[in-house]
Amino acid sequence: MQRTLGVSLLCASLVYAQTYQRLGTCPSLGCVFPPDQANFLPGQLFDIRLEVHAPVNGSEAFNNGVPDEKFSFCIQVGDGECQDASSFFSVAEPVLSTYNFTWYEDLFAEEAETPSVVNVAAKSYRALSLAEPGEYKAILKYFGTQQTVARWQVRSTPKEAVAKNVLFFIGDGMTQSMITAARLIAHKSINGVYQSLMQMDQMEALGHQMTHSIDSYITDSANSATALYTGKKSTVNALNVYADSSSDPFDDPKFETIAELFRRRRHGPIGVVSTADIADATPAGLCSHTRLRDELPSIIFEFLYGAQALTPDVEWPTSCEGPDVLFGAGAEHFFPGEDSYNEEDFYAKFAAEGYEIVYNKTGLEATGVDQKTLGIFSTGNLAKWIDRNVWPENLVGGGASPLGDESDALDQPGLKDMVIKAINILQNRAQENGTGWFMMAEAASIDKMMHSLDYDRALGELLELDDTIRATIAHLEEIGEAENTLIVVTADHGHGFDIYGSTDTKYFASKDTDREKRNAVSVYQGSGLSGYTVEPESLPTNDTIVFGAQGPNFPVNWEPRYAFAAGMAAYPDHKETFKIAKTGPRTPAVKSDDGVIANEKDKPSGFHVGGNLDITQAQGVHSLTDVSVFANGPGSDKFRGVYNSIDIFYKIADALALGPEGKYEAC
Ligand SMILES: *[C@@H]1O[C@H](CO)[C@@H](O)[C@H](O)[C@H]1NC(C)=O
Ligand SMILES: *[C@@H]1O[C@H](CO)[C@@H](O)[C@H](O)[C@H]1NC(C)=O
Ligand SMILES: *[C@@H]1O[C@H](CO)[C@@H](O)[C@H](O)[C@H]1NC(C)=O
Ligand SMILES: *[C@@H]1O[C@H](CO)[C@@H](O)[C@H](O)[C@H]1NC(C)=O
Ligand SMILES: *[C@@H]1O[C@H](CO)[C@@H](O)[C@H](O)[C@H]1NC(C)=O
Repeated sequence: MQRTLGVSLLCASLVYAQTYQRLGTCPSLGCVFPPDQANFLPGQLFDIRLEVHAPVNGSEAFNNGVPDEKFSFCIQVGDGECQDASSFFSVAEPVLSTYNFTWYEDLFAEEAETPSVVNVAAKSYRALSLAEPGEYKAILKYFGTQQTVARWQVRSTPKEAVAKNVLFFIGDGMTQSMITAARLIAHKSINGVYQSLMQMDQMEALGHQMTHSIDSYITDSANSATALYTGKKSTVNALNVYADSSSDPFDDPKFETIAELFRRRRHGPIGVVSTADIADATPAGLCSHTRLRDELPSIIFEFLYGAQALTPDVEWPTSCEGPDVLFGAGAEHFFPGEDSYNEEDFYAKFAAEGYEIVYNKTGLEATGVDQKTLGIFSTGNLAKWIDRNVWPENLVGGGASPLGDESDALDQPGLKDMVIKAINILQNRAQENGTGWFMMAEAASIDKMMHSLDYDRALGELLELDDTIRATIAHLEEIGEAENTLIVVTADHGHGFDIYGSTDTKYFASKDTDREKRNAVSVYQGSGLSGYTVEPESLPTNDTIVFGAQGPNFPVNWEPRYAFAAGMAAYPDHKETFKIAKTGPRTPAVKSDDGVIANEKDKPSGFHVGGNLDITQAQGVHSLTDVSVFANGPGSDKFRGVYNSIDIFYKIADALALGPEGKYEAC
């Protein structure tokens, strides 16, 4: 057996899995979750999972596919003795489980349909915590001579909170180049000097954060939300768990979120607001624990009853069960049907737990501020700002009614309406225990519209976010909470978007060939000035808002003759005119027998742009860029500089003093 070990170890070191990984976060055959480099808030709850892998075949084949079931695991504090984990945490030794899974080593193996098989021996310890700040080593020993060492750091946290409330805005997919583009179209500049600025331009602190996942450098919104809310990096599609190798997407090792901690430590109300399906990754990330963000009905179940209720066999004694405010879309997970949990009526279940329920903007404005409130305003994601405000006829025929009767959802609130109402409810409910409140509000469709190369709609969403932040600050001042409220604005990842010139759309339309049309694009000096801040000639001179126009802080003209010329780092085949899609969000590419191709019905008079993505992708994808972080209010100075996405969790937790001894004393 010793000889097998030596030979196989050599083989194992030759594997450089990248596109496919046996198990991200576990390059060796012994896996420790939380893995090396994990950070913790003192007292933050987490699970430990240990796995020993014995690949049966493939380049890592080892020990005839027999995993070591007698592995040992200990915890070392500083330079002390390594103490067996069950005695260190004073818990019973968990039961060992064994199973197998398969994976592809690379694209060749996938094409040949030759998955590698791995046998596993595993254990999970549930709901532990480390109260003392410091350095820890978690050491797994297996196959006699092998070991995996995870270095953990428990950060220290202040005892006195500086912030009473936290309002965390996430512009999903929002990069600095998008903020710059939004400023260009919504704020007038004279001789190179802006006459007004974005609210984000005027925040007290600016920093930027690195967004990469634990096991890939491009992130999605699930693991990036996880990083922002828990201070832990994880895998694409995972929400507040480390992805393990078992088949159950709900038994992966969990860790506690900022919302759960705020509830457990501060006993204060929490709010979740999004312009997306409320089960989408960014809102779901506050309360859910699953390896698969697409388990949408279960995510709604978790919102209402908590993670413990979803998996009663798995201990998890912390919860943000029943958030005080839940505003967004995704009605199909609430009315009974194939997209709701067990096909049950979740409006009725929320009502049974004491929720007020509102279905439209009129209802949102009219409802009181005493009760927990669920506001679900459409199926899917909410209509976009441009369609709600500039071309509202685009909402007709969508059949997006939150009641599920396929009528139209014509009376939808915007992000600003939802956030201001949410503040009022949270502010009122916080009095119950004399606490502050915590809210996350997401401008989700910046990302969604960037995915579909609908730059105008994405920027409309971004301007709506900026307008919401402006109105929020004013409202907090009005109610006397501005000085108590830390506002953080950031993104979860970027897209490779930027503006590089302008397009004379009139000249463009007059030409017939792709190459002639491209001559309508002018760069450098030829880009000229923003046409979006100049009122079109047909506009009346009075302030009446007419078709296609808005302001202030929004473009006055969404269809200038000289439109911005913009592009993405990654895109499918598509057609481009640079003119806004007036009849509704774009569908730039469609599936065909030959993979994804340009949608000839989208911008039919455009020139053809050959894609640079694999031909299964019908949308643009996320990119690597760092994203900006803006902050205002108490604790905002800590957000200056360059740091990792996980640091944002610790900065917020520190402002609230969410450690075991932390408290907030109102002055
Ligand atoms: C994988 O597990 C299944 C059942 O758990 C078992 O029947 C099968 O033999 C295992 N495969 C290998 C290659 O060990
Ligand atoms: C591993 O074994 C399984 C069957 O047990 C087989 O389907 C698969 O093709 C093998 N994979 C490789 C890489 O040899
Ligand atoms: C107040 O604290 C109690 C006890 O922890 C808790 O059950 C209740 O939900 C809290 N109220 C609010 C509005 O958060
Ligand atoms: C708003 O929702 C309520 C409750 O479902 C409904 O009675 C009302 O007609 C709706 N109003 C509009 C304008 O859609
Ligand atoms: C503004 O201009 C429009 C179009 O010319 C006109 O119909 C409207 O009466 C004017 N409104 C005011 C308040 O002058």
